[in-house]
Amino acid sequence: MERPENCIITIFGASGDLTRRKLVPGLFNLYMRKMLPERFAVFGVSRSDWTDQVFRDSMAEGIRTFAAKENRDKTDDINEFIHHLYYHSVGTSGTGSYEPIKAHLRELDDQYRAAGNYVYYLSTPPSAFGPITRSLAEVGLNTETEESGWRRLIVEKPFGYDLESARKLNAVLHETFQEEQIYRIDHYLGKETVQNMLVFRFANGIFEPLWNRNYVERVEITSAESIGVGSRGGYYDGSGALRDMFQNHLLQVIGMVGMESPSSFSATSVRNETVKVFKSLRRYNPEDVATNVVRGQYTASTVRGEPVRGYRQEEGVPDDSMTETYVGLKFYLDNWRWAKVPFYVRTGKRLPTRVTEVVIDFKKTPHRLFGAQKKGIYDPNKLIIRIQPDEGILMKFNMKLPGGGFQIKTVNMDFHYSDLSDVYVPQAYERLLLDCMLGDATLYARGDAVEACWDFVKPIQDAWANDKSMKMFGYPAGTWGPKEATDLIEGPDQDWRFPCKNLASDGEYCEL
Ligand code: BG6
Repeated sequence: MERPENCIITIFGASGDLTRRKLVPGLFNLYMRKMLPERFAVFGVSRSDWTDQVFRDSMAEGIRTFAAKENRDKTDDINEFIHHLYYHSVGTSGTGSYEPIKAHLRELDDQYRAAGNYVYYLSTPPSAFGPITRSLAEVGLNTETEESGWRRLIVEKPFGYDLESARKLNAVLHETFQEEQIYRIDHYLGKETVQNMLVFRFANGIFEPLWNRNYVERVEITSAESIGVGSRGGYYDGSGALRDMFQNHLLQVIGMVGMESPSSFSATSVRNETVKVFKSLRRYNPEDVATNVVRGQYTASTVRGEPVRGYRQEEGVPDDSMTETYVGLKFYLDNWRWAKVPFYVRTGKRLPTRVTEVVIDFKKTPHRLFGAQKKGIYDPNKLIIRIQPDEGILMKFNMKLPGGGFQIKTVNMDFHYSDLSDVYVPQAYERLLLDCMLGDATLYARGDAVEACWDFVKPIQDAWANDKSMKMFGYPAGTWGPKEATDLIEGPDQDWRFPCKNLASDGEYCEL
């Protein structure tokens, strides 16, 4: 892989948690793989009254805890790396001219021969995005010319909280930066298994002919977390599962599952195809929301012998909160490939385990030659793409049991990433930061895609906000969500796939 050109990575909101847990450990992993530019600096900008040394110490601690396991104890390398880290305090108000930032950047630029190549990472609350980009523009740090070097802006989530705010945010960013300079991060696109979906689909000849309404019965995505909201109650209560997971991460996964083959592997072609998927999402009418979307909130329970509090008892959560910690949806893509194929997606906190997977359920054989179908014994084929944990791909198919007669058993053909024992799997932020430095936006969300996704969830948001008859279902912590979510699935005896066996004894373990 090529190495990026020399550059300076400026992080706004550098004293925040994300920088210490994800960004700097990700950069350090790249450093260890010799994937950072030959000469680079990380320039932290924030309100906290820190010095270079305080910043370096805090980041060294972050690296020792959150970098790839094999890199955490590399003391000499960590010490060397943190000497590339610098800090600039913008004072508690965070306002004022960016001339001092520009001067500081110029010094670093001279020292590291960065040729004006700057990444700006906005790891601040969204309310600061506009003020920061305008301040950068006031001192001319936004424009790209041959002489100035490149200027790229990475924008952290949340990208708006509804369609209108996302449109406004796009408009604010476009006042000062061109769309080609803007990299909207969605860490799900940085996950190896999500990217592998493109390779699985478009580097193999045998699956694509089946990947459509003629052979697929339904598509199901589960993204479960066993943890609750923890100390993030204050943030989470203003968000909820629909915004926090579905509108962004899971719709991006749908984009990968649903897209047509791009004409080339360029950011424009790939993202043109995912946008088409988002635009094909059939919008709900207000009266459809209640029958196609189920929301829920975890309630107090005992999970594997431990008492667990309910969502409304969490720190920072009002005791009459109507924020969903679970959402299950059924919807359709209105296009030739997917006409009439139901898509089911569910995500939630405090479910029995942590697992994210895509399941493609194929249609049953047109004639049941070997008798009636028996669940778990003579099932239609299923393809399971496990995004995490135990990343891999599994195909379920039917075999004859040896011996007399024709007894059938559903068996697995599987691939686990862990089988590639000598292959390093980069963390999502690490991959995405590298792509931005290389100028490759394929795995970043484009402005029109983000708006199309918000447009799809708008009727749900409106119904929940305005229609008092919309129900919020409780589910005991440690269960698979409200039982009403089962009613979403079409067909007699049909249910979600329950991916885990022996949960009680295996704890977090979830078998592919
Ligand atoms: C974040 C959400 O974007 O994604 C969190 O804000 C969620 O609430 C997290 O826990 C899930 O990410 P991952 O990579 O652990 O699946």
